[in-house]
Amino acid sequence: MKKRLAMLFILLTVISLLAACGGESDADGEEVYTLQAGHSLPDDHPYQLALLEMAENVEERTDGRVKIEVFPYSELGAERELTEGMTLGTVDIVVSSTAPVTNFVPELAVLDAPFIFNDRESAVKILEGEIGDELFGALEEQGILGMSWGENGYRHITNSTHPIEKPEDLNGVKIRTQENEIHLAAFEELGAQPTPMAWTEALTALQQGVVDAQENPAIVADQYSLFEANQKYMSLTGHVYSVAIFMMSKQTYDELPEDLQEIVLEEGQRMGAVERDMIIEMEKESIGTLKEQGMEIIEDVDVAPFQEAVAPVYDLVEYQDLLNRILDAQK
Ligand code: PAF
Repeated sequence: MKKRLAMLFILLTVISLLAACGGESDADGEEVYTLQAGHSLPDDHPYQLALLEMAENVEERTDGRVKIEVFPYSELGAERELTEGMTLGTVDIVVSSTAPVTNFVPELAVLDAPFIFNDRESAVKILEGEIGDELFGALEEQGILGMSWGENGYRHITNSTHPIEKPEDLNGVKIRTQENEIHLAAFEELGAQPTPMAWTEALTALQQGVVDAQENPAIVADQYSLFEANQKYMSLTGHVYSVAIFMMSKQTYDELPEDLQEIVLEEGQRMGAVERDMIIEMEKESIGTLKEQGMEIIEDVDVAPFQEAVAPVYDLVEYQDLLNRILDAQK
């Protein structure tokens, strides 16, 4: 019995430490709330820079009553764990690509269908319109507030063995994908051997040759120095426009007083556009760095055969109505 009580005490202590809102008070006796924000990328990635800007603005506008601590490099967990953390109220704010969030909110899967958006502008218009609002509604049902839409750039394929110029070049290539059924199915259609795993495991898998390839935007290849993880070629396939979401745990939001809720939400809503601009600026620089580091960049990839090869995965999208509305909106 004593042992059980001790365990319960430890559990409650851990939960209270993990809980979003700190019980500290400031000099005027006002409660100070400390929120934890997490993401999976380095501390010079736009996810981090935007979150830091949000933290600064929130602290200033709330006179220090809300502090946001930002944790890069999956320090609070990989994207799937971070998403789960928000549903449990153990992580307060997250920026994540949509792919792993789909495991909690299947409606989002449509955004990860390859070549679904004609271009960045169309994607942003759709995300910031009625469809995006509906997707945020689905997110909220799972206890997560969607604050704004960001991005991580276009996803391209890197690999250790040869230039990939056409789908046949992917035959038998062992590629790490995100934990997302549509991505997995798309690479199967392309004849590759996909293995889904969290990004936290991907680097070791590339270094140890467990997989030969991965796919991510140029900024990730650059900031994680994938050229040092056997990646010699990058083909600019741009097969997925990697949508990211600035999100907040609904539980955390509900615990904040109304005046603070408004400020935090407003700042989170601004960050998507701020972050997207940074990505656009940094993407070109990253391709330059990858070249300087000796990576061969295959720039003029004819994407039509890739598009054709992955077309069957559109049938796997559960929410066909959403898929068709996205396609129709771009005609
Ligand atoms: O490939 C992934 O898992 C994601 O693109 C990453 C690198 C975690 C960024 O969102």
